[in-house]
Amino acid sequence: MIKSLEINERLEKYISDHTNDLHPVQKELLKYNDTLGQTKKMQISISQAYFFQFFIRTNNIKNILEVGTFTGYSALSMGLVLPKDGKITCLDINKDTSEVANNFFKKAKLDDKIKINLAPAIDSLIKLKNTKEKFDMIFIDADKENYKNYYNLSLELIKNSGFIIIDNVLWKGEVADPKKNDQLTNLIREFNSFIKKDDRIEKTILPLGDGITICRKI
Ligand SMILES: C[S@@+](CC[C@H](N)C(=O)[O-])C[C@H]1O[C@@H](n2cnc3c(N)ncnc32)[C@H](O)[C@@H]1O
Repeated sequence: MIKSLEINERLEKYISDHTNDLHPVQKELLKYNDTLGQTKKMQISISQAYFFQFFIRTNNIKNILEVGTFTGYSALSMGLVLPKDGKITCLDINKDTSEVANNFFKKAKLDDKIKINLAPAIDSLIKLKNTKEKFDMIFIDADKENYKNYYNLSLELIKNSGFIIIDNVLWKGEVADPKKNDQLTNLIREFNSFIKKDDRIEKTILPLGDGITICRKI
């Protein structure tokens, strides 16, 4: 059986050195997140961001919704490859990290394209549903307790053939460890089983970062 690679920081750097150069503001944001200690692990990995950029470019994605923005690394990375008429709506509840994110968006001259809605994401998603706006891609990366709600609301907000990408679905590998039975691991397991049965979408799980599921609305 082919073993998967463990992507440590050295390998992550090698990937960076052999993909596209990071934008100076991405570098600055990564440095900032490094100062945050444990909280840094909220941020998506550098490889995930490269994958999202490739995915956005190759699928002609213009209108993105992000659920869970933190200090902005995922949104900034996606924003950097958007076409002129592209935009990102970010949903987050944390005023302080959203302020940090907004400053980085401004530094990268992306503040006209990336806007944060500061509110509980469920409320924002319901409001968006009423506007009838539809998205090409939705990235879910907020509180795991609400993953199923975010996913169900996202299905109403995504265009036909649009993509919903969900982060942390492999939960440090613990979803497959029978010894792990804490509440969050079980929530992710339940969510993954729910997605498996959902025939409204095509899906695949990729072991990128903490594991992502990519769904395409049929
Ligand atoms: C894992 S972090 C997002 C990381 C981000 N995508 C990145 O790559 O840097 C999760 C975010 O979800 C936000 N969050 C948690 N519960 C929320 C809720 N109920 N509504 C909106 N945002 C929420 C947190 O404030 C946090 O910024």
